[in-house]
Amino acid sequence: MSWSEWMRGAEIEPSLYGADFARLGAQVGELVDSGCRIFHFDIGDGHFVEPITMGPIVLQSISSCNAMFDVHLMVENPVKYFEPVKDAGGDSVTFHFEAVDDVPATIAAAHAAGLDAGVAFNPESEPEAVAAVSADADIVLCMSIHPGYSGQPFMDRTFERVGRLRAVLPDHIQIQVDGGVGAGNVEQLRECGVSLFVAASSIFGAGSPAAAYDELERLIR
Ligand code: DX5
Ligand code: ZN
Repeated sequence: MSWSEWMRGAEIEPSLYGADFARLGAQVGELVDSGCRIFHFDIGDGHFVEPITMGPIVLQSISSCNAMFDVHLMVENPVKYFEPVKDAGGDSVTFHFEAVDDVPATIAAAHAAGLDAGVAFNPESEPEAVAAVSADADIVLCMSIHPGYSGQPFMDRTFERVGRLRAVLPDHIQIQVDGGVGAGNVEQLRECGVSLFVAASSIFGAGSPAAAYDELERLIR
């Protein structure tokens, strides 16, 4: 099933980078029971970003639940991870604009692997330059922090950057935001044209992740 059939117009995506890894399966299950449809799964390689995060063997252990897995590749050479992500049960791969020489060819490689394709870009990159090469993407991810770690503050200039992106991107391409997303900014982001909201700290840092998820869901509906 493709994203467009699975999404309810907009979705909150818990970012599993913020989960308690000793209880990963239980936390995923609680969020699925609360209605969560898409999880965000961060792969960092220690090169494109400083930390090594988690990889396909962890994805494999949770991907059989009734949800989609959106895999954010914070890596150099993203194409080499497409098949392992697909085999582990991933549904989409989002690679970085800054990490590849040929964005359209990389989107085509993701589609050829049976995955939806996302293009992420860092705060230094221009939304128009990203949109110009992302016509065949399913998702464009406007980073609202510098990628690498959970728990960083949201950059306020993201609102303006998302507006610029929405103005030049075809309507069917979903805009995603990742970094510092929470109750204080999701409504304004929705108004700017965001439909996929990635959130780690504001969900897993709460006493009840399921309740925090429900509250964010309520705010975007
Ligand atoms: C880090 C990752 C994010 C991270 C977001 O660069 O790409 O997905 O988990 O964490 P919060 O929501 O805490 O900013
Ligand atoms: Zn991410």
